[in-house]
Amino acid sequence: MAEGGEPSIRVPVPQDLHERGLVIVETDDREIVVLVEAGTLRAIDRWCPHEDGDLGEGMMFRGNIKCPVHGYIFSLTKGRCLNTFGMTARVYEVKQEGDDLVLTAVSQPMGRGL
Ligand code: FES
Repeated sequence: MAEGGEPSIRVPVPQDLHERGLVIVETDDREIVVLVEAGTLRAIDRWCPHEDGDLGEGMMFRGNIKCPVHGYIFSLTKGRCLNTFGMTARVYEVKQEGDDLVLTAVSQPMGRGL
């Protein structure tokens, strides 16, 4: 169970996750970008909390991802936007358990577009 009561999400490990380094997984109510950075799994909601930019097309660097639309940068560990005030993306702690990934939200989306 995530902080704030949101249940963890369990999805099968996408077949090409490690080859591609980035995949989109879909659940009943959201799309999530799962990334591999230096062997570490990270995840963030696909749609940017600002104006729905596609973070699946974002640029990842040093534990952050940059939205391709307006360039806001989000921490993949905290969700916090690093270059504008008061905006947060939903990011997840990711654990692999057998053939599944368990995604546990560690932040909730917050920002102008919401
Ligand atoms: S839509 Fe992502 S920064 Fe504006």
